[in-house]
Amino acid sequence: MADDISKKVELLRKEIRRHDHLYYVLNAPEITDQQYDKLFTELRKLEEEHPDLITADSPTQRVSGKPVEGFASVKHAAPMLSIDNTYNADELRDFDNRIQKALSDEDYKYIVELKIDGLAISIRYENGKLTQAATRGDGQTGDDATSNVRTIKAIPLTLMQEASVPEVLEVRGEIYMPKKSFAELNRQKAETGEPPFANPRNAAAGSLKLLDSRITASRNLAFFAYAIGQVTEPLADGHYKTLKALEKLSLPVNPNIKQAKNIDDVIKICQGWQNKKETLGYQIDGMVIKVDSFAQQQILGTTGRAPKWCISYKFPAEQAETIVESIDIQVGKTGILTPVANLKPVKLAGTKVKRASLHNFDQIKKLDLRVSDTVIIEKAGEIIPQVIEVKTKKRDIFDSKPIEIPANCPSCDSPTVVTVNKRKETGAEEEREFTTVKCSNPNCNSILKERVGYFVGRGQMDIENFGPALIDQLVNKGLIKNFADIYKLDIFKVAQLDRMATKSAENLLDGIEKSKTQDLWRLITGLGILNVGGQTGEILADKFITLDNLIAADIETLESIDQIGPTIAQSVFEYFTNPDNIAMIEEMKSLGVSPKSPTEKKTTPLTGKTIVVTGTLENFTRTQIAQAITGSGAKTSSSVSKKTDYVLVGANPGSKAEKAAKLGVEIIDEKKFIELTNG
Ligand code: IVH
Repeated sequence: MADDISKKVELLRKEIRRHDHLYYVLNAPEITDQQYDKLFTELRKLEEEHPDLITADSPTQRVSGKPVEGFASVKHAAPMLSIDNTYNADELRDFDNRIQKALSDEDYKYIVELKIDGLAISIRYENGKLTQAATRGDGQTGDDATSNVRTIKAIPLTLMQEASVPEVLEVRGEIYMPKKSFAELNRQKAETGEPPFANPRNAAAGSLKLLDSRITASRNLAFFAYAIGQVTEPLADGHYKTLKALEKLSLPVNPNIKQAKNIDDVIKICQGWQNKKETLGYQIDGMVIKVDSFAQQQILGTTGRAPKWCISYKFPAEQAETIVESIDIQVGKTGILTPVANLKPVKLAGTKVKRASLHNFDQIKKLDLRVSDTVIIEKAGEIIPQVIEVKTKKRDIFDSKPIEIPANCPSCDSPTVVTVNKRKETGAEEEREFTTVKCSNPNCNSILKERVGYFVGRGQMDIENFGPALIDQLVNKGLIKNFADIYKLDIFKVAQLDRMATKSAENLLDGIEKSKTQDLWRLITGLGILNVGGQTGEILADKFITLDNLIAADIETLESIDQIGPTIAQSVFEYFTNPDNIAMIEEMKSLGVSPKSPTEKKTTPLTGKTIVVTGTLENFTRTQIAQAITGSGAKTSSSVSKKTDYVLVGANPGSKAEKAAKLGVEIIDEKKFIELTNG
């Protein structure tokens, strides 16, 4: 009996690891989140009943229950070297000339990789089990980051054993934060008045320095392996084959790795990525070029600091100089006042930039920014323009004065509340002062407008034609005082608004009507609960299935959810114990709002079918298509067989399309797929 249970536990772990790999590494999930949760809950339950069966590599043991005191030092078994930089094609050619000379005109090949902008990590596996992870530090000694690295789902705790695993294998790679997670994290920080991270690399580094790995777990870090350190048995005789071997061991390796036979090819590949780096879901700051053969790497050697067989090509920093024309003060949906700079329009990384966030008043003080100043702007994570430097020397000292913290709300004129908190910034040693400036009026129209705008927004209830101009009018006329009022709008109220033709009024009301049965997670997110973004909204919806269950949840239940820290649990609990909020939700219900719970899957002509995707799609990334397929009730598979119902073919398809034709499996394109998902 005990044996049976132990077998079952191992089987569940194996299955969960397989699905983690499919989801986090291959971007090709085969099951829905609910099905995954079921496996996970089952494993957790068995482990609770049989604690003696718990092992460190169990998927349930990624996040440790309590914060650590500090980080121990780790001496690297093989030093973690850095890379020399080049900045243009000529310097790349110089590098190639040195290689050619040192290899006495032998043939050689280059591997060209993306230079992921995160932080280097060394992960030690002993007999296929993750035993330690350490940051680079000074290259010889780093910090023990094991407990935090274990929370990153793309990093396997156990390597797949299909290929034989060396006794000791140190995997080196880059931990990074995807652009989307970075934007979401900074959005949450802004909401609570915390200073944002300047870029995804700082965000990743900061998240890895946290003493509480539960918070690290919520940060959505990711990983790409790009090299090995100490290894008891080489995986291959060259770099490219080693990366392929790491991939087979279930480690994530970046898919955009190219072999190049000469420096012209290398330069072409580098220039190609310089022009399309914005299309990636993560930030890269250049390219890395490596000589492939290990024997040749040996001949070339190192300078002590950096290997001579490797070079980076750094993209030029995308910055622009412009002038601050004025400062606007925005009131956010939590009432926090944020300064925004209106700039003399300037082109930066492909777009025209007219505004830059200044984050908060501490930032203005730190930069000593004033109206009419000449400033340097940069895009954080290639998305959000921000001021990084003020050219104070160019300032007219007689005609410039520091920007003051506003004493009144720019919208309702109520006095502001200025709080100065002392806090340790993520990863920082010392406490710093943070100033938050808030409007003191809970009924401030600007706050209400922001909250309504968020509620109806694309990522939440997704009500079309509900733009800022309309919200302005509805709030100013007193037609909307809370979210329930949205559902009391009728044609008479709407038609009296400016610039509202009958047809647009009807469209708007249609959209509002449709939103009554939006997905539950969208409604939860739309409520704008402090610290709850889309991702937490989804976690809560999956966990509680109905809004009533969520409302009834006690604080212990909320805190026990994976990926939900004590702060989020507390704000969710507070929101749903506030009688005003409950009254509003009840009113919404009585007006017909009845969100779709995550178990009510929509059925489409694709429900129950198996779909294989090949080639590059125009409208979907790999993750998006996988989600669209699962969302339509179908499942994805990575290989074509007779059981496959459809092969969805994009540009440059692989051999899968040929195989489908051979087996007589129906081939569809993106357009057809979209048609089928819409029924
Ligand atoms: S190879 C001996 N490959 O860039 C060479 N590094 O500026 C070891 N990085 O410290 C590193 N992407 O953190 C390598 N594809 C890639 C990389 C990469 C990012 C980072 C790494 C390194 C830094 C040097």
